[in-house]
Amino acid sequence: MKKLIIISIVVTIVTITFFVIINPFFKLELINKKNITINYGDKYKEYGVKANSLLFNLNKKVKVTGKVNVKRIGKYIIEYKVKYLFKTKKLYRTITIVDKENPVITLNGDINIELFVGDNYEELGYNASDNYDKDLTDKVVVDSNLDTTKVGDYTIKYSVKDSSSNYTEVVRNVKVKEKTIEVKNVSTDYTDIVSSDTPTYINGILIVNKKYSLPSNYNPGVDNEAANALSNLQSAAAQAGYSMPLLSGFRSYETQKVLYNSYVAVDGVEVADTYSARPGHSEHQTGLAFDVGELDYGYGDTAAGAWLREHAHEYGFIIRYLKGKENITGYNYEPWHIRYVGANVATEIYNRGITLEEYLGI
Ligand code: DAL
Ligand code: ZN
Repeated sequence: MKKLIIISIVVTIVTITFFVIINPFFKLELINKKNITINYGDKYKEYGVKANSLLFNLNKKVKVTGKVNVKRIGKYIIEYKVKYLFKTKKLYRTITIVDKENPVITLNGDINIELFVGDNYEELGYNASDNYDKDLTDKVVVDSNLDTTKVGDYTIKYSVKDSSSNYTEVVRNVKVKEKTIEVKNVSTDYTDIVSSDTPTYINGILIVNKKYSLPSNYNPGVDNEAANALSNLQSAAAQAGYSMPLLSGFRSYETQKVLYNSYVAVDGVEVADTYSARPGHSEHQTGLAFDVGELDYGYGDTAAGAWLREHAHEYGFIIRYLKGKENITGYNYEPWHIRYVGANVATEIYNRGITLEEYLGI
């Protein structure tokens, strides 16, 4: 009997020790992985843990500590703790918020640009933004091999890294071209200028070109007959559906001087002489010449420019500086510059496809 009591006490102690103190059935385990990486901007989901003893589900007893701030990249540790009888179990999980998105660089202006040799390149601007760091414009590194003194293809590279070292680069291509102007064979120069103290008329037609000049005090203002003819031309153009605005009419010697000098300052004498008359040599000083339509070498290829070329003579005007006749007129083709000579002369010049110089035999 005594033996039996001792045995049952031992069994009870062993049982209590096993189930209560050792308690091998008390378990805590992580649901999902121990280390979880989340992209910045995504949501954090608490997967939790499973806790149970032999008989009971202990999930409700689990204490979770530690917070994840998905708005800040970094490592966050979550602790899961549960107590049961005489034992405490703990587990940890690491959540890492990362930014893997590259910043974005936006360029102002064109991505492909063209310059002439000697032009100044002014940075057109850029900005950089990032999903995490927001504005990174100040961090953009600009790396350029541009040399505007030499013809070539160059690149300007804009790059930026965000605080997580995500890298972006964009490139602007710059083509530096030879400074050529439309037409190169403008050969008439000022070497044999016939200067005169009075305007030169040949066959009753006032001639002004690189050889024949006007005195600086010749200041007639716009010619009435020419102005009326222009207004008829403009009405007819409007009827045909084209607007033909007057861009420049009479220009005094002084005005031409300022204009010509401004071109020289930009392009140099040699180039300026191919498209701008020196003071005293501009037809605009006669009051008989007008620039109409558009000051664009492509104007002659537009419907309005073609209409002007085909109808100007009906109103007494000629296209004064023809394409292919640059070495005779001394100037580049100007599809916009018309000169009043009266309808008869204009029509003959138009029909023969010649310049005023050829018509006058000079
Ligand atoms: N553009 C013309 C040639 C002038 O300056 O008169
Ligand atoms: Zn003109």
